[in-house]
Amino acid sequence: MTSAARLRASPGGRPSGGTTSARSQSGKAPIASSHALVLQGVSRAFGALRAVDDVSLEVAAGEKYAVLGSNGAGKTTLFNTITGDFPPTSGRIEFFGEDITLLSPHERIRKGLRRTYQSSLLFRDLSVRDNLFLAVRGVASGRFSIWRPSASHSSRRATDDLLDRVRLTHIADQPVASLAHGQQRQLEIGMALAGAPRLILFDEPAAGLSPAERRELVLLLQSLPSHMSFVIIEHDLDIALRVSERVTVMHNGRVLRTGTPSEIENDAQVQAIYMGGRH
Ligand SMILES: Nc1ncnc2c1ncn2[C@@H]1O[C@H](COP(=O)(O)OP(=O)(O)OP(=O)(O)O)[C@@H](O)[C@H]1O
Ligand SMILES: [Mg+2]
Repeated sequence: MTSAARLRASPGGRPSGGTTSARSQSGKAPIASSHALVLQGVSRAFGALRAVDDVSLEVAAGEKYAVLGSNGAGKTTLFNTITGDFPPTSGRIEFFGEDITLLSPHERIRKGLRRTYQSSLLFRDLSVRDNLFLAVRGVASGRFSIWRPSASHSSRRATDDLLDRVRLTHIADQPVASLAHGQQRQLEIGMALAGAPRLILFDEPAAGLSPAERRELVLLLQSLPSHMSFVIIEHDLDIALRVSERVTVMHNGRVLRTGTPSEIENDAQVQAIYMGGRH
């Protein structure tokens, strides 16, 4: 599909998240915990390059949020500042009202933050079930007691629930290497769902998927619990606008626009950048 066709595609009419800012003019007031995520003036430099440049945004608890932008706009780097893989060089990040700017990635995971990566990190020689089991055990408390029967029993039950949630039960015992690309992406989402996350960052989950696999992905994203927030980076505007309630468009590391899917779809500057972008 061309970028222009994607822009014309229907956003699917989900309601707006309708969040309001709890920040004072100084930007230093406490943030209401109804926000899952608050970024205040977040920047990340690599040498002279400001890959993320003074980005502020807010994601409400339960809100489904999309980040769009051309290649190199800074979307993945923004995710890296949120997860702590590459912490911000300046600015502040709050997760459910708590300052997490300087926490390690592992501490952020313990607080209920998850992500999927642009390139797959699955164990290809292990089965679907074993990949999910490892994700469940990895986020469970007392994970060093992996062989204790009771702990292992509840983890197996959680694994079966996740298999069901991402509709992979029928191929649970197949090695990941034998899966179609779309099934691998479903599995990655299942792994991100382990341990009842409060917010998941999805980095281009539809990349490389067939049209049928994209439809399956949209259904999966739309079936996530209403209390769970997510932020999705997605080049396919049709998908991004359909699954999200609010959208931020990035350009050259900065926020170009934030709005509802229909506001973004009809924005002339966004259209110009997307049609001129590399897709
Ligand atoms: N670890 C790094 N070291 C140096 N430069 C980096 C690093 N990570 C990203 N960059 C640079 O930061 C800029 C933004 O990259 P980023 O990967 O965040 O873009 P993106 O919006 O995710 O792009 P894409 O749509 O292609 O995935 C690019 O110029 C990139 O080369
Ligand atoms: Mg990226």
